[in-house]
Amino acid sequence: ISVLAKELKANLRQFPNFPSEGILFEDFLPIFSKPELFQKLLKAFQLHVGNAKVDYVVGLESRGFLFGPSLALALNAGFVPIRKPGKLPGPTFQVEFQKEYGSDKFEIQQDTLPAGSKVLVVDDILATGGSAFAAGELVKKSGAEVIEYLFVMELDFLKGRDKLGAPVFTLLSGQDEKFQ
Ligand code: PRP
Ligand code: MG
Repeated sequence: ISVLAKELKANLRQFPNFPSEGILFEDFLPIFSKPELFQKLLKAFQLHVGNAKVDYVVGLESRGFLFGPSLALALNAGFVPIRKPGKLPGPTFQVEFQKEYGSDKFEIQQDTLPAGSKVLVVDDILATGGSAFAAGELVKKSGAEVIEYLFVMELDFLKGRDKLGAPVFTLLSGQDEKFQ
C-alpha cells in the first residue's frame, strides 16, 4: 500500500493561498485524469477493505462523489449519496454541523439504507471531521452502521478522527502542512 500511496502523493498538485490566504490546497483531481492512477486509488482502498462485509459505500458531496461510486462497484456494494441541503427529493434525514465559518447541513434519503446494513463512509479529506461526523449521524438515523471511514488524505493536526465513532483509514497520512 505504501508504494501505491507514494505514487498517488506524487500526483497531487499544490496550490498556495487557495481558496483563501494562508491555505495550501492539495489538488487530488490529477489522479482522476489518469486511468491507471484512478485504478491504483481504488485498488489501495480495496486492499485495505479486504474481505470485510460491506453493503453500501456512502459518499459525501461533492468530492466524495468522484470515487465513491467506483469504489462501491469494485467492492460489489451499493452507492448512496449524502448531499447538501435541498438537493434530494422525498423524505430525508438532516444533520447540521460546524464548518470553519458558520454551519452547514447534510441530508440522506430516508429509504436508501436498510436497517442493519454495513456502511463505509468515503470522502477526499478529513479535516475537522465535522462533515464525516454528520455523515455518521445520518447513517445512524437510517438504522445502519458505519464500519469504517475512508479518506484519501487527512489533516492530522486537526484531530478530526477523534470525533468519529468508528475506525478511520486514510491513504495518505502524516500530512503536517496546512492544506485543504
Ligand atoms: C471539504 C472536503 C471534505 C470536508 C472536510 O468539502 O471535501 O468534504 O471539506 O472538512 P471537515 O473535516 O472540516 O468537515 P467542502 O465542504 O469544501 O465541499 P466540496 O467537497 O463540495 O468541495
Ligand atoms: Mg467535501
